[in-house]
Amino acid sequence: MLKLGVNIDHVATLREARYHGLNHGEPSPLSAALLCESSGAHGITAHLREDRRHIQDQDMWQLRKRVKTRLNMEMANTPEILAIALQVKPEIVCLVPERRQEVTTEGGLNAVAQRAGLKVTRQRLNDAGIEVSLFITPDLEQIEAAAQIGSQFIELHTGAFAENFDAISVREKELNRLIVGARAAHSLGLKVNAGHGLNYENLATVLAVPHLVELNIGHSIISRAVTTGLAVAVKDMLVLMAPYAE
Ligand code: PXP
Repeated sequence: MLKLGVNIDHVATLREARYHGLNHGEPSPLSAALLCESSGAHGITAHLREDRRHIQDQDMWQLRKRVKTRLNMEMANTPEILAIALQVKPEIVCLVPERRQEVTTEGGLNAVAQRAGLKVTRQRLNDAGIEVSLFITPDLEQIEAAAQIGSQFIELHTGAFAENFDAISVREKELNRLIVGARAAHSLGLKVNAGHGLNYENLATVLAVPHLVELNIGHSIISRAVTTGLAVAVKDMLVLMAPYAE
């Protein structure tokens, strides 16, 4: 069965928009994670960014304590964040590139250029019992580098496919790159996840990619939750206001 990992970063984005630096506030990424799990999600993904723009260190620790499915920590390959990962001990780490100016993770890792450094980090994480995934574009040389680095998983970057979903010929080309990439990765013994930009519209199409273990989806699920949850939220507030005596 294809698994779903829900990325809860944007729950923290909403909290930070109001409560940044205050160590409390709503909505709670932990509560969101537990709701995702009780609704059938197979894993929870959270990205502890160097700039701490959404998920905070404390969130990672709370998630580690309570997530019962599978905690996937996304992170850049930096000494500070690696040290935290080795203490938190998520089931899996997905190494991603990070730039402070970006709105979200934009490209894939350059596993070819960073082969040596990624191999050292992969080994340290594996030695601590943590599986490793590399977030890469579906390019053969990146996939081969991931295999040489010895990571257990790759996560295929579906961003180009998702961004070009309405341009049918580009979409078909990007889908084909994902299909070819997944086959190559599988033949090299890598397990294949995919994610970025997947939503309720493009999901059915991406199911054509073979050998997928898990999809990591964040923004579209959290966005939908805002609208599907709004009716209940308004009704709950009206119930609280009802006792007001004029
Ligand atoms: N996978 C990786 C490696 C990511 O960096 C992200 C974005 O944080 C996602 C999946 C989820 O992307 P989206 O929020 O577009 O679903």
